[in-house]
Amino acid sequence: MIPSSWREALGDAVLPAVLVDLDAFDRNVRHIADTVRSAGARVSIRPATKSVRVPALLRRIAAADAIYQGWMTYSARETLALWQDGLDDFLVAYPTVQPGDLAALRAVHEGGGRVALVVDSAEGLRAASRAMSGVSAPFRLVADVDMSLRALGGRVHLGVRRSPLRSVDEVRRFFALAGGMSDVTMAGWMGYDAQLAGLQDASPFQGAMNLAARAVRAASRRSVRAKREALSEALSRDGYRVEIANGGGSGSIDHAPREPWLTEVTAGSGFMGPHLFDYFSNVRFEPAFFVALQVVRSSDVGYVTCQGGGYVASGAPGWDKAPRPWWPAGAKLLPTEGAGEVQTPLRVGRDAQVQIGDAVLLRHAKGGELAERFTDYVLMQGGRPAGRTETYRGRGWCFG
Ligand SMILES: Cc1ncc(COP(=O)(O)O)c(C=O)c1O
Repeated sequence: MIPSSWREALGDAVLPAVLVDLDAFDRNVRHIADTVRSAGARVSIRPATKSVRVPALLRRIAAADAIYQGWMTYSARETLALWQDGLDDFLVAYPTVQPGDLAALRAVHEGGGRVALVVDSAEGLRAASRAMSGVSAPFRLVADVDMSLRALGGRVHLGVRRSPLRSVDEVRRFFALAGGMSDVTMAGWMGYDAQLAGLQDASPFQGAMNLAARAVRAASRRSVRAKREALSEALSRDGYRVEIANGGGSGSIDHAPREPWLTEVTAGSGFMGPHLFDYFSNVRFEPAFFVALQVVRSSDVGYVTCQGGGYVASGAPGWDKAPRPWWPAGAKLLPTEGAGEVQTPLRVGRDAQVQIGDAVLLRHAKGGELAERFTDYVLMQGGRPAGRTETYRGRGWCFG
């Protein structure tokens, strides 16, 4: 049996269900605030909504500490929905040129909301300028600057493939191009260090690759820092007033805030404590959410089979994206089946006290994706049930 307080918190919830440990969540929120505050003098933290996707939990973060300012959103329609729900100050971190998306952002902007959109192409600039034609105040744009580590003229590329804006001069030219367009203005830049914030360097699944990951991290830290500093200096020399200089993610909150040229850092997944961060040498978060599955079968002594469980995270496919058994201790997915959409077998060992009808708990690899599969989350605080709260899906929101 899972601990009785957890069983009590689950109450009559139909399994599969997601259980959020609000105490652990709150400790993560405090830990991230404290870490950033102790590392950097002035930076604020812009939470990444995609890594939570639960409106009440987002509000809980903002209410916990004044260091949390604004939101990094992942879609224009999401941004409009959150604004209509009462949140404000958005950085839409991924470009879009679709008229419908830009109309949603225009509605926020013209309605008095504070919003900026990330762009990295001339097409993006032109689409934004067209969509914002005639707005009462220029619509704010933020340039996404590639922070990947590259060598041999780009043949070696360590990092994400997103923005083509790499050199300081390319960014300066981009700002100048935007300066010639009507109804938009450049409000700053974002330099997400994905190869630092998203790269495991202490994973039992990747053996010697951990050493390579650590080398990449060390080299990346130096290059990202130097690049963000040079960018900041060049833009201020050019006379731009940079309102937003965003960098970092949960995986780099220990060092990104030390860069004085950043106005803000982002954190998202760290609040939820997904298992992705179990394999980082530099940050640690508490597991704060779990999916509870019903044990429905036992095919052999030492094995149980659960209903549901196929909550595999996005990204390069691999075992690190599979959910990870948490309760009972020592339970393991089977290499031949992994986490199945409707049936997930677990090897629990001969001595495990797990019966048909019991609940087992798994952890997700990422912070927000599980919310796409559930309309609400069950809350637990102080070992007691604390009600339920709607996910985006529960609100009827689905942003792709
Ligand atoms: C632009 C950007 N900033 C920051 C993050 C970090 O988010 P998290 O803290 O959830 O890892 C991400 C995650 O993918 C991102 O795309």
